Amino acid sequence: MVYPRNEWYVACFEDELDAGAPVSTQVLGSWLVLWRAGKSVVAMDDRCVHRAARLSQGRCEGDSLRCMYHGLRYDAVGKVVEIPGQDLIPESARVRTYAVEVRCGWIWVWMGNPAEADRGRLPNLPDQVSLSDFITGAGALDFSAEARLISDNLLDFSHLAFVHASSFGADLAWAHTPMKATLLERGVRAERWIENSSGPAFLNLSDTCDEWLGYDYLVPGVLVMLNGVFPKGTAELSGFRKPDLSLAIGGLALNVQAVTPKTERTARYYFLTGPHRNFGDEASRDAMVAINHQAFAEDKLMIEGQQIILDATPELTLMPTIHDRGITMYNRLMDRLSMIAEPL
Ligand code: FES
Ligand SMILES: [Fe+2]
Repeated sequence: MVYPRNEWYVACFEDELDAGAPVSTQVLGSWLVLWRAGKSVVAMDDRCVHRAARLSQGRCEGDSLRCMYHGLRYDAVGKVVEIPGQDLIPESARVRTYAVEVRCGWIWVWMGNPAEADRGRLPNLPDQVSLSDFITGAGALDFSAEARLISDNLLDFSHLAFVHASSFGADLAWAHTPMKATLLERGVRAERWIENSSGPAFLNLSDTCDEWLGYDYLVPGVLVMLNGVFPKGTAELSGFRKPDLSLAIGGLALNVQAVTPKTERTARYYFLTGPHRNFGDEASRDAMVAINHQAFAEDKLMIEGQQIILDATPELTLMPTIHDRGITMYNRLMDRLSMIAEPL
């Protein structure tokens, strides 16, 4: 499988760097070390130029990182600035560094040429909201499966009815009414209204309501989703598209997820979730994080099972259903981008 290098991938949580020690992570097959040089975050190859020791086993020293094998010291642009016992430092004594951004509490790394890093490609939150409007929590799960299977999962919510009946309490309607899928320049938009619903049990509504859920699934594997409960009639009033969020009467929540391919057959799935401040608190946030952990463990079981079968039967042809429209759109987009990518 190939993945585009000229994209932003989540490499780790921002707070993993708070301990002042370097952090090791793997993205698109490359081992990276992330560390803080003063206020800025540095991502570079996790490999000392001397004898290939892991720099993530090194020590942060102010604005530099020391390899703890024989003590070579690196600055924030990956250049060796000290070789204990040797005055001359070769010009070539440097490791590759990567462009880095911090967003949603995650460190995003541009895996291509840093000079080409396009900050316009970082995912934005939807119009009408900012992160501080929500009380969020986060988590991550490691998958023994290729990232694309997780993307397929996130582009077809009909699985909610079967995989997440207990965790999310999803009913069969998820499998009977496909979401509306629209191709975007860099992803797929999925939208769903349920009119005249009795609403989630925790809201205890006296009247029926309209429920909204909409998300963008963006290259190279980022989901940005809002959902909420609105007064009856809002679906029609909104032309069955995204509603005015100020009309929400409950359950307004944000979900952001990012799938990072670690290797051909492993991936890390990051998630952030939480209620809008007007409709929840820390306790409801914690409950949402716990349910997400439970639900994504259900996905993991299904997806790792698929990977075993796909590996055992590489000649297999898969049979799409009506629910696969979004998957087909997204995978075509990824195939087009990956044609110019190097294999992992
Ligand atoms: S391997 Fe890093 S200093 Fe020797
Ligand atoms: Fe799922």
